[in-house]
Amino acid sequence: MPALDKLKALIAPAKLLTDDSSLAAYGKDWSGQFTPAPLAVALPKTIEQVQAIVRWAIEQGVALVPSGGRTGLSGAAVAANGELVVAFDAMNQIIDFNPYERRVVCQPGVVTAQLQQFAQDNALYYPVDFASSGSSQIGGNISTNAGGIKVIRYGLTRQWVSGLKVVSGTGELLDLNQGLIKNATGYDLRQLFIGAEGTLGFIVEASMQLSRAPQNLTALVLAVTDLDCIMPLLHSFQSKLDLTAFEFFSEQALEKILARGDVPAPFETRCPFYALLEFEALNEDISNQALSLFEQALENGWVADGVISQSTQQLANLWKLREYISETLSHFSPYKNDLSVTVSRVPDFLRDIDQLVQQNYPDFAVIWYGHIGDGNLHLNILKPDNLSKEAFFSKCHEVNKQVFETVQRYQGSISAEHGVGLVKRSGLNYSRSPAEINAMKAIKAVFDPHGIMNPGKIF
Ligand code: MLT
Ligand code: ZN
Repeated sequence: MPALDKLKALIAPAKLLTDDSSLAAYGKDWSGQFTPAPLAVALPKTIEQVQAIVRWAIEQGVALVPSGGRTGLSGAAVAANGELVVAFDAMNQIIDFNPYERRVVCQPGVVTAQLQQFAQDNALYYPVDFASSGSSQIGGNISTNAGGIKVIRYGLTRQWVSGLKVVSGTGELLDLNQGLIKNATGYDLRQLFIGAEGTLGFIVEASMQLSRAPQNLTALVLAVTDLDCIMPLLHSFQSKLDLTAFEFFSEQALEKILARGDVPAPFETRCPFYALLEFEALNEDISNQALSLFEQALENGWVADGVISQSTQQLANLWKLREYISETLSHFSPYKNDLSVTVSRVPDFLRDIDQLVQQNYPDFAVIWYGHIGDGNLHLNILKPDNLSKEAFFSKCHEVNKQVFETVQRYQGSISAEHGVGLVKRSGLNYSRSPAEINAMKAIKAVFDPHGIMNPGKIF
């Protein structure tokens, strides 16, 4: 194909892949819902090559799909319509480190775990963390404003991005915020590219801030007697401790984890929900405080049992109870939702949604887990054995309308941290007003006037 020959020459010696297995691998993400059909896969090594790709795409009228670790669950990195995938695997270096500013400059293909390790090697910490950190890339994390398990203390990816270089949909290179902490010179354009899911341009370099390394992290897993006890529990611990995590999972989630056979049970007691709390046990006072809060929670009847980690090995084992859930459930091809409401409304919201699904489909297993301290719940519905995958998904789609209506009633979000992509775009209007959606479209038109940047994603 002449157009591809031209592109190949433009970006040489960078690779342009057209073989079937590369097209299949690079054309999809972990949502697993779409059939990959990209035109080709470009693997640029330099910013200039990224600019050349964009200019070629404008000239040829070819759509571009940015691709990181493809660990997303919303289809934002899917190329199913003859797009050119631009993957950042070959731009994977940490190119600068300033210890005084606790800042690293990363290429977009740096894997999250690579940045975490770099921080650790320099006695610092990159705090955005989640189960897919071994595969996800910084460019993708920024494009989805990734959240994860430490948001309650450290915030979202947005909080750690102090500068961005982006190539917009015109091929122009923009250098945004240059690592500055204070910059009161009008609109902060950097923020627009964070969470834009590649619809405005490509992130080609990122300045990421690092934090002090946490010390003596200690986890508590508590068996929570009733949904209504979770908020008083959170409030009680948060009023005395600086929590680094407050996660939860349901009894059904625990059952699936224990059935794997490689994760030890925290205790024998069974309750409808479990909370995983983490804090830095910096001194004996803090450890004693945690124990006394636990005793109080037992006395109040909020929890029926609990365990506190005594070693890094035990800390890691307790985290497996939460972190392995997504991967464990993926074997059941669940129907997934990633919802949020304001924190104090979580119990009512969860109960409403649970009833909604159970009333419509009493034989569907509903599994809850997530970042309850952030008001972010992952709702996974499992297919009963007697139903085909197609029939199951169509029933879930039907009930999903009511799920989204409930989210709207609670003024919540239909996608708390996974993004909109292709999977959630028909639900965007449940969380965003027509005026907001129009403003987003107008912003896209400024940075991507030719409509080549990840078209069809978000809206
Ligand atoms: C998680 O919190 O485990 C992730 O967001 C993945 C998921 O929701 O399955
Ligand atoms: Zn999550």
